[in-house]
Amino acid sequence: MANDGQREYFNDEKRVQRWPTREPFTKVAISPLLDAASLQPGMTVCDIGCGGGMATLQAAELVGQTGSVVGVDISRAMVALAASRPHPDIVQYVEADAQTDPLVGGPFDRIISQFGLMFFEDPVAAFVNLGKHLAPEGSLHGVVWQPMETNLSFMAHRLAARGFARVTPGGRTVEVGAFAFANRDVVDEYLVAAGFERATWNLHSLIRLSHVDEVVTRETLVLAGIDEAVVDDAYAEALLELAAVTDANGRVHCPLDVQVLSTRLAKL
Ligand SMILES: C[S@@+](CC[C@H](N)C(=O)[O-])C[C@H]1O[C@@H](n2cnc3c(N)ncnc32)[C@H](O)[C@@H]1O
Repeated sequence: MANDGQREYFNDEKRVQRWPTREPFTKVAISPLLDAASLQPGMTVCDIGCGGGMATLQAAELVGQTGSVVGVDISRAMVALAASRPHPDIVQYVEADAQTDPLVGGPFDRIISQFGLMFFEDPVAAFVNLGKHLAPEGSLHGVVWQPMETNLSFMAHRLAARGFARVTPGGRTVEVGAFAFANRDVVDEYLVAAGFERATWNLHSLIRLSHVDEVVTRETLVLAGIDEAVVDDAYAEALLELAAVTDANGRVHCPLDVQVLSTRLAKL
């Protein structure tokens, strides 16, 4: 089956249990996404990689009782988390692989995604599939990360990539899946190959106020691939960088650099 790795990763029990503590960190990206999508009452919407349904629920408020929103996720555990939360009747959550499976509830006026487009094994096939479920005048909007190097919130990944990592063959490697859509030219190539127009891109540097432990810990550094033998040095370097954006009350004004793509099917 396609995307088995992601299915397994996002069904991991511990990851899903921890997910509600991660959502407050990334929810700042929902407004720029929904602004770009310009949702109107009565629209049909599909939220790809809906996770716990944060963007799905905000979309539902905008389309109202005459509209509908389908949240699609490859992870059964994420769909269960979303469905366990209060949601209006116009919202439906479906377990499906957006790359390969038919999407119920279309054709959609808008397909949206909050950090859910970057994980496809075959992005062109995925966009072809999404295009099949888009209304002729509909549009696709997704928020994705800008490169890891500009994203202070991914401190552990940045330091690992900078050379603190000691990745052994067959050992831990730096997780880069989240940044697979950082290169806008590459994404535009996927879109055009799948029958979409090149995207319009809106870049945002968002700020999330956090405690330092929410941004980086020795544990997250090790998880990102940094050898335990050098983790103290890496942690010290991380704190030094974060000091520049930490206020007198110890709150880190942590930048989250994201980009929102907007596109539609190319006219033949
Ligand atoms: C980084 S999470 C984002 C979740 C949520 N939108 C949020 O921002 O909180 C990515 C989500 O995409 C889902 N996903 C990954 N590959 C997918 C696929 N092929 N089809 C549908 N969902 C997928 C994952 O299960 C996961 O819930």
